[in-house]
Amino acid sequence: MRSTPTAQDAAPIADAMRSYWEREMLSFSIPAHSGGRGPAPEFTGWAGMDAARFDLPMAHGVDTRNMSRQVQSSAQKLFAEAIGAQQTMFSTNGSSMNVHVAMMTVAGPGETLVMARNGHKSAFAGLVLSGARPVYVEPSFDEELELALDPRAEDLARILDAHPEARAAMVTTPSYYGTAADIRALAEVCHERGLPLVTDDAWGLDYEIVGHPDLPPGALKQGSDLAIGSAHKALTGLCQTSVLSVGSDRIDTERLGLCCELKESTSASALLLWSIDGARRQFVRDGHELLERGLQSARLLRRRLAAEVPVLEVVSSEELASRPGVSGADPTHVLIETAPVGLSATRPTTGCARSARSTSISPTTGGSCRSSPSPTARQRSTGSCALCAPGRRARRLCGPGPGLRAEVSDRERAAHGAGDASPRRLLRADAEREA
Ligand SMILES: Cc1ncc(COP(=O)(O)O)c(C=O)c1O
Repeated sequence: MRSTPTAQDAAPIADAMRSYWEREMLSFSIPAHSGGRGPAPEFTGWAGMDAARFDLPMAHGVDTRNMSRQVQSSAQKLFAEAIGAQQTMFSTNGSSMNVHVAMMTVAGPGETLVMARNGHKSAFAGLVLSGARPVYVEPSFDEELELALDPRAEDLARILDAHPEARAAMVTTPSYYGTAADIRALAEVCHERGLPLVTDDAWGLDYEIVGHPDLPPGALKQGSDLAIGSAHKALTGLCQTSVLSVGSDRIDTERLGLCCELKESTSASALLLWSIDGARRQFVRDGHELLERGLQSARLLRRRLAAEVPVLEVVSSEELASRPGVSGADPTHVLIETAPVGLSATRPTTGCARSARSTSISPTTGGSCRSSPSPTARQRSTGSCALCAPGRRARRLCGPGPGLRAEVSDRERAAHGAGDASPRRLLRADAEREA
């Protein structure tokens, strides 16, 4: 871990929030609970009074109404510096908002946006909101693995040549299976035609901030012009935290700012914002070690599955990385073949959702998977499997990444017999029920 202090050690939002209380500020604006100074909000009984104390108004105390103290903008500048962006903006409405804003920035009503067909649903909502006209580039489909991977540069070039009116291209990378598109080649294809490339790398913000040699390189470093990253997926931000970063002059930043204003709440949560600030500071300082731990957990998971549940074949990162259109694979995405136990991908996914409600956590007795709350955990399973399913003989479960813990709810134990809740038994029982 680094010990010499740098500018990246600052946390402007946290400092301003602490100073709010030190200055004994009193707000007559939102939130109405006034930091718990009136009747204690019910949730403080569960989450503690600090949850209310630090749910502060950004514009009425943490900063001024016209943001003259530049609290958020200073934090955004630090973030941009950490990832080598020209500019970064924070979202408290998730990466969904940033996908919408990015699309509205690069293409207006009736204008053509070339986009990869395997986008998140926010990208399709973004088409409705922006009024942009989509022309799709198909991701390369791997017949053997039955997976939609990443779009190839030559396919993007062909489509852009057929649509000279296109204003931009947008791809989603890394994919839900942990494969990274060849962003450098895709960006070159766009830039040769004077167009920006937008990357929805919601799951790849850690690549950008840490630059770990065993993970794919960050999108901005490979030429993305506008990149979306989820702080709550790839770092340690609270849910709904995301960043949108500008990589080049190909982006109209005035329009970007206006689109952001259209979509962001006028009472953005200081709690959410400070968690982005904290996640940036933590990953700049400790990111390498955190990701090392994640990579190690993923290796252990792969080894243990091979040794203890060999019927569940795990697709190796090397195999994924060798596929067309794929420039690298993230080993912390553990891609599990569930066909041998007769399961479609949706069955274990449902199991993940069920077990997420359970309270008993045991690394050895679990029946279904979910991501752990460890800082490097990625919540891959639910989102991933949704994409495995449509129209295909869906049969893969994308494992939840390095911090996997297997977990069994009381209901599941009862359903499967309390005595033996081993993964194999649960999967067998699921397969029998499905049959
Ligand atoms: C690739 C991708 N983009 C965007 C989003 C939307 O992110 P959020 O849930 O933060 O709104 C998701 C969510 O899973 C995603 O997987």
